[in-house]
Amino acid sequence: MVSVDQTIQLIRTTGRNAQGQPAEACSPALAKGPWEFDGVLQYGPGSSMSDVIPVGSPRQGALPLEYQRAGVEELHERIRAAKQTLGDRVVVLGHFYQRDEIVQHADFLGDSFQLANAAQTVPNAEAIVFCGVHFMAETADILAQPHQQVILPNLAAGCSMADMADIDSVEECWAQLEALYGTEPDAEGRVPVIPVTYMNSSAALKGFCGRHGGIVCTSSNAETVLEWAFERGQRVLFFPDQHLGRNTAKKMGVPLERMPMWNPRKPLGGNSGDELLDARVVLWHGFCSVHKRFTPEQVAQARAEFPGVRVIVHPECPMAVVDAADEAGSTDYIRKAVAAAVEPTTFAIGTEINMVNRLAAEFPQHTIFCLDPVVCPCSTMYRIHPGYLAWVLEGLVAGETLNRIEVPETVAADARVALERMLDAKPKA
Ligand code: 13P
Ligand code: SF4
Repeated sequence: MVSVDQTIQLIRTTGRNAQGQPAEACSPALAKGPWEFDGVLQYGPGSSMSDVIPVGSPRQGALPLEYQRAGVEELHERIRAAKQTLGDRVVVLGHFYQRDEIVQHADFLGDSFQLANAAQTVPNAEAIVFCGVHFMAETADILAQPHQQVILPNLAAGCSMADMADIDSVEECWAQLEALYGTEPDAEGRVPVIPVTYMNSSAALKGFCGRHGGIVCTSSNAETVLEWAFERGQRVLFFPDQHLGRNTAKKMGVPLERMPMWNPRKPLGGNSGDELLDARVVLWHGFCSVHKRFTPEQVAQARAEFPGVRVIVHPECPMAVVDAADEAGSTDYIRKAVAAAVEPTTFAIGTEINMVNRLAAEFPQHTIFCLDPVVCPCSTMYRIHPGYLAWVLEGLVAGETLNRIEVPETVAADARVALERMLDAKPKA
């Protein structure tokens, strides 16, 4: 199978993909060597190239030269050897969007919800090496047992969407909403507003939800979580992903005009008091740069070129794309839908390219392609590569915990409350 790395190199040198078709990558900078790619001070080229690391965030220092100079095969060999030495003491978790070079070393592969659970089901592991992005490693640390340490191989692996809502802006929004709504429950005992944060958010925001009667959701349980919230509140403040919030609430019958958007740079988020009083869901102005690339035109083109194509997209895609698709669901939903198809089927998938390519290789009986013809990986997931994995694993062998992600207990205690509410929430029968 041709990996995304190889595809990008091919496009850069020939302008064509592995099938010989004219193709492009979303940023030529993605073709730089991983060391150059990681050397820049911003999150980097590609889908989130204009994001600046928030002040106070941990920064990734230079990877030691011996890992920079090692060839890919040597790195794989060193990773395997370190894992063998560590045995059950270490578990490597990999998100579906990771590169193949990393996925081959993962003990568990999954979506953000499954990996949050996986971290809890490995009590013997002293170290959880999380090959994903920062908010996922934070969540693993919050749910881990006290003797377990969580490691993120490259600290620059953040999530541009998670960075779109910070605790100060959310506290400010909350103060304005409380001033407008008050704090008294209605006749059915429902409080004026319940905060719901997408898993793709900092631990501080999960803690905020824990403190204010709120909850966390992932893309695989957003509807169950909104049901939970509507039972307890007259309305929901949903952050940071406007698209997941809108797509889910719309599916549940909430009219669009009752979903105003909150722009943190404007008073009352850019809304009138009446609009906010009438709201069922107040949507934070956040989005995923990778999923924002998908368009209804791409869906129409896939249908024109492949009559009978089954279009499945992630709910972080804009509403018009979800509406035009046949189905929308989390990364695990997409995987299961492809795996369950009995007849050879053509699938157009609207999610990150590493996952789509892997599905195509794993299920050769189907024709599977990415809705977006431009190759654009999630540039922050992409930052975890074998050099970093070898470095942190060999660190553990030497008795050193590198790149530990540790959420202070003052934040973790509240965040755990919101996460446990999510883990306990069950869909209505
Ligand atoms: P999942 O919850 O489907 O794993 O998605 C996480 C993510 O970051 C999608 O962009
Ligand atoms: Fe964040 Fe989007 Fe990357 Fe998911 S795909 S980790 S939401 S930037």
